[in-house]
Amino acid sequence: MSSKQCENSVSCSGVWCRFSDGHPAYLARHYWWAYLWRWGVWFFDHQPIINAILFGQYKKLSHRALQDCMKSRPAGRLLQLTCAYGSMTPALLNAMEDELYLMDVAEIQLNATRKKLTDADKQRLLCARMNAEFLAYRNDAFATVLIFFLLHELPPDARERSISEAIRVLRPGGRFVITEYGACPKKNLLWRFYPTRWVLQHLEPFLERFWQVDLAAMLGEHAKKQGKVIKQVDEFHCFAEFYRVSVFELEP
Ligand SMILES: C[S@@+](CC[C@H](N)C(=O)[O-])C[C@H]1O[C@@H](n2cnc3c(N)ncnc32)[C@H](O)[C@@H]1O
Repeated sequence: MSSKQCENSVSCSGVWCRFSDGHPAYLARHYWWAYLWRWGVWFFDHQPIINAILFGQYKKLSHRALQDCMKSRPAGRLLQLTCAYGSMTPALLNAMEDELYLMDVAEIQLNATRKKLTDADKQRLLCARMNAEFLAYRNDAFATVLIFFLLHELPPDARERSISEAIRVLRPGGRFVITEYGACPKKNLLWRFYPTRWVLQHLEPFLERFWQVDLAAMLGEHAKKQGKVIKQVDEFHCFAEFYRVSVFELEP
């Protein structure tokens, strides 16, 4: 296959080049098989598969994230920052009467999400194709932002930009719900057992660095740069702290 230049000037060659068009290079290069290839999207978007990938914790984590978004929900718009396999988006729409905003950089993901909805729910889903690192929403547009397992898939600079953008579009008094891997899960057997850690780190090339991140501190720094103050108000752990659902709120 001939080499060509990707959108962000990283030269590429190989199967992933076919998926680089309009997508961040890291997404095409490391995750084409999971998020951009039609057979991958078909395969992974089955409840038993996504549950197996999360070692049987999908239901617990998605229920908790839903609860954290909906409980005494701050008045205003709700943004799901990128698509997620499984029933997260239908469940959010089911739990609310107003519109749900959803963005993703991959058209195939937005289409796959729409297919999971009833006609009535499709009317309340406001989809937009955009990059989480450069959101096209105005400052303080949302009262709630939900991220479901995105941050560990991003290279460090993309992660920083996406967090900064999420805080920019969240209004004072707004809530930020993040479902993710826990901080370096040294208590968990999957981490202690080198072969499983090796497999995970090869499938998720940015996870190792994400494990070292102090999420609350990172959010605090980005909020401060924007003249906002963010506080962690809740954290739920499961699977021996392998996963977490963290809830942050901006001061009014
Ligand atoms: C939310 S994450 C992981 C979800 C998790 N594995 C699951 O399905 O439960 C995957 C999504 O993020 C999207 N994505 C990755 N990087 C992005 C970026 N910079 N901007 C917008 N969407 C992005 C991918 O297209 C994909 O739809």
